[in-house]
Amino acid sequence: MNICVTGGAGFIGSHLVDKLIEQGHTVLVIDNLSTGCREFVNPKAQFVEMDIRDSELLTVLAKFKPEYVFHEAAQTMVPVSMHDPAFDCDVNLMGLINVLNTCYKINVKKIIMPSSAAVYGDLDTLPLTEAMVGHPSSFYGLTKLTTESYLRLYYEAFGLPYICFRYANVYGPRQGNGGEGGVISIFCERLQKQQDITIFGDGEQTRDFVYVDDVVAANLNALEVPDLVGVINVSTEVSTSLNELVAQFKNIVGHDFVVHYESERAGDIKHSLLSTKKMMAELNYSPKINLTTGLANTYHYFDSKL
Ligand SMILES: NC(=O)c1ccc[n+]([C@@H]2O[C@H](COP(=O)([O-])OP(=O)(O)OC[C@H]3O[C@@H](n4cnc5c(N)ncnc54)[C@H](O)[C@@H]3O)[C@@H](O)[C@H]2O)c1
Repeated sequence: MNICVTGGAGFIGSHLVDKLIEQGHTVLVIDNLSTGCREFVNPKAQFVEMDIRDSELLTVLAKFKPEYVFHEAAQTMVPVSMHDPAFDCDVNLMGLINVLNTCYKINVKKIIMPSSAAVYGDLDTLPLTEAMVGHPSSFYGLTKLTTESYLRLYYEAFGLPYICFRYANVYGPRQGNGGEGGVISIFCERLQKQQDITIFGDGEQTRDFVYVDDVVAANLNALEVPDLVGVINVSTEVSTSLNELVAQFKNIVGHDFVVHYESERAGDIKHSLLSTKKMMAELNYSPKINLTTGLANTYHYFDSKL
């Protein structure tokens, strides 16, 4: 099949492209390389350096004729969204509308894209299920929440089917250190350079860490369920505190390191744990990679870059 991946030079998008190519699909990557890397793009994929807000997107996609579009391109940094809400809105909503209009006009079968656990805000009824919506504490969370409504309305008003994934904290090789799930990549980079690491708060805050291969596999399963439309968590439903994360790193890195504890950052949520029930029932997927294996893979990837 012809499949377009926006953001295919980024962390999650580039892994998705690799798997789609492996499965024999013809893949077109659209990316403006703002946070992505050209060398992450699979050499067998077609690549167009382009902003998702560019009106020429329609011309490019009308020519390529994708059956499916995976829309991974986004402004992904929470602090950037707080410093520049207009930029966050421009990329994550105006860019989204350009992609949706294009998909609708060229009769794409389905758009598959991420939302985020950030839409849950600080809800404390765990695990978080798709029926819940919180009050996002960042403009990034707000544009992701609004994204879900745009997808629903393009489906209801114009018949464009969608699947929208609320990714938990994704980690793995190629992750940058600016995006929302970046604590593991930040720790990996610092530990490789024999530097100390810093935790904001007492380290007892918990996250639901999901390995990038599981996220990619969930995306690929979306191609197998043509009638499925809606919002689905992609997570492990395993709660890990940052102190537990540090303990796991101690087993992997092979040298001692110092952990500094600083005061909590405003807006940081205490606990995040996303239910996997709907993902298992409707997408027929459950995560395969546990944290120990995923962390070791990620650490050794960063190690090999030094
Ligand atoms: N990493 C996580 O833990 C996580 C969690 C929840 C949701 N997400 C979402 O998953 C998606 C992928 O995130 P990621 O972690 O791979 O981030 P990433 O920054 O590695 O990838 C984003 C890609 O989009 C490209 N891009 C950004 N703005 C663009 C624009 N205007 N036009 C064209 N390309 C543009 C970047 O160059 C980059 O290659 C994003 O939508 C993000 O919000 C990520």
